[in-house]
Amino acid sequence: MKYKIAVIRGDGIGPEIIDQALLILNKIGDLFGHSFNFTEVLAGGCAYDVKGTPLPQETIDICKNSDAVLLGAVGGPKWDELPGDLRPEKGLLQIRKELGLYANIRPAILYDPLKDACPLKSEIIDGGFDICVVRELTGGIYFGERGRKKSAMGEAAYDTELYSTGEIERIARKAFEIARQRNKLVTNIDKMNVLESSRLWREVVNRIALDYPDVTLNHLLVDNGAMQLIRDPKQFDVIVTTNMFGDILSDEASMLTGSIGMLPSASLGEGKFGLYEPIHGSAPDIAGQDKSNPLATILSTAMMLRFSFGLQEEGKAVESAVEKVLVKGYRTGDIYSKGMKLVGTREMGKLVLENL
Ligand code: IPM
Ligand code: MG
Repeated sequence: MKYKIAVIRGDGIGPEIIDQALLILNKIGDLFGHSFNFTEVLAGGCAYDVKGTPLPQETIDICKNSDAVLLGAVGGPKWDELPGDLRPEKGLLQIRKELGLYANIRPAILYDPLKDACPLKSEIIDGGFDICVVRELTGGIYFGERGRKKSAMGEAAYDTELYSTGEIERIARKAFEIARQRNKLVTNIDKMNVLESSRLWREVVNRIALDYPDVTLNHLLVDNGAMQLIRDPKQFDVIVTTNMFGDILSDEASMLTGSIGMLPSASLGEGKFGLYEPIHGSAPDIAGQDKSNPLATILSTAMMLRFSFGLQEEGKAVESAVEKVLVKGYRTGDIYSKGMKLVGTREMGKLVLENL
């Protein structure tokens, strides 16, 4: 089969991790007889530098005309002084919105060989864990009304958390559908003891749950949820939550797997189209030094193969190759522990390639 993939390298370590991911996809194409056609497009700080906007229209059009999008990372201190609307991150938020990608799937799995990189005590993580964070991605405080105004205490600024029933229904359904394919447990995380938007959120999640009697639903307040993730990560299967809570909790969950450098993500809407990106950022401090971990991006291509193209075997092949490299003791700096073999970005990519 032929697949059209729009590729956004982005900023910081984005280009170097995408390089490795493309090598992997090409090899999968050779091994399994598929052809992946890559079209490079600009978004983020590099797009602002060239086109004066973090998300050029051409990028949106090409992405919409593709079967999937692969994205590295955007942002960096170079663009910190720009107004909010021109920041690289705005490009990322806008592309998620433009493409209707309301569901962000962020699996946090503890790979056995990385147990030593997990900061939790071994008795807590014994037997491993497999958590899937389902984060709402195109609503909430990220997209609500914001602004500045005068107040008695000086200049004031505000952002608003707003969720409609329809937005909550569709993300809740996604979470329940995913849970059905897994251990049939959904934990909803909100702040209903304080926020009105969370009270509506919880009402709607409870109502949607009635359509999934085979799936168990629990609720946690976000402060407790953050604590439970560290106290006992094994209690979770699928977590469903809002845009901002999901942003925070998925970083927390990622650290439990050893490093944020390991976690892939898929952003989905209706249908098979999706955007795939590592959950880590652009790490400008190590960009261009061959130090970054390409595994989250490589694992994101595995999610693309599975979710957008329905290529389960191919996705599995990528995941197994990553696992083999870890079992053999190769580590980038972020997942390094004593006695392991330290490698750079390119070497890590090459090793995965060789183990495919
Ligand atoms: C993420 C990132 C983004 C987000 C930033 C870069 C806008 O942190 O994908 O988690 O907050 O969604
Ligand atoms: Mg984040």
